[in-house]
Amino acid sequence: MKRILTGDRPTGNLHLGHYLGTLKNRVKLQDFYECFFIIADLQVFTDHLQDSEKIAANVFEVACDYLGVGLKESNCFFIQSQVPELSELSMYFSFLVNISELKRNPTVKSEAEMYGVSNINLGFFSYPVSQAADILAFKADVVPCGQDQLPHIFQTREIVRIFNNHFGPIFKDPEELIGECPILKGIDGRKMSKSLGNTISFAQTEDETEKKILNMLTDEGRVRLKDPGNPQKCLAFSYLCFFEKDIDEIHNIENLCMSAGISCRDCKKRLSNIINDELREIRERRDFYHSDQERVWNILRKGNEKARAEASKTLEEVREAMGISYHS
Ligand code: TRP
Ligand code: SF4
Repeated sequence: MKRILTGDRPTGNLHLGHYLGTLKNRVKLQDFYECFFIIADLQVFTDHLQDSEKIAANVFEVACDYLGVGLKESNCFFIQSQVPELSELSMYFSFLVNISELKRNPTVKSEAEMYGVSNINLGFFSYPVSQAADILAFKADVVPCGQDQLPHIFQTREIVRIFNNHFGPIFKDPEELIGECPILKGIDGRKMSKSLGNTISFAQTEDETEKKILNMLTDEGRVRLKDPGNPQKCLAFSYLCFFEKDIDEIHNIENLCMSAGISCRDCKKRLSNIINDELREIRERRDFYHSDQERVWNILRKGNEKARAEASKTLEEVREAMGISYHS
């Protein structure tokens, strides 16, 4: 079986953006690949240094989100910091990457610009190298991810090329697998992000979700009930297109909107019912795990062990190839 490695930073609960962008896809892929899911706690220190007392709780939340969406317990779920081989590999890789190359990484660049380029720490600057280590320590074949992670995959392949050139053919190129769904915006039209408070998440109740959706941006040109709306300018309608499976119903809403035959409130109520319906089973399963902490931590403990065993094998080969394996 081919191998997948992918994961997330534990900065809070995963949300609907993650769900459409990658989680749904992972649930499908788990039957066809051997899967490693990394909860990248070290990567949190790139820009959330102040959050260290929340990390353990957030790791737990992300694990519950994973299991909640339907990733099976039999997958390997592990915590980045608990596999020190990853840090070791990252150290070795750091000698293979040019500073100028890292500076060109568009994702790091745009993230760094958010903070002011001179304010970012060294670990932030080099996290694509650490991410390459996450992927290559497991010799993953495929990395399902969002578009924004693509530069990191290119960086990973560059490291494969340089490493293999210098030290011999240890690694192979991982392939990216970009989710088909474009990025889902937050309810205010900005990037969906926990820190902006504009997310819809599994951890919310149905009422909270409905409230969020009722606050969602709509066609600003539609002021009064009798004004016809333009669905193409409405965020709520774009959500509907992602979640309503019945095309006729989408057209129906489109027509009702353009003929002022439905209020935005009713329209958004329908949307929130559709979304809550889709999330119901996920939320139930998530609650099940959330109330059984021991079970979740055991899954993570087992995952850490398996991940370490796999990464150790690779690291032995790497040290040997690099000439720093000192068994007499
Ligand atoms: N950078 C990813 C994110 O922010 C998380 C991540 C860490 C990751 N290591 C990875 C993703 C390896 C894919 C492969 O979501
Ligand atoms: Fe958007 Fe629906 Fe209002 Fe039309 S009726 S503007 S689609 S919320």
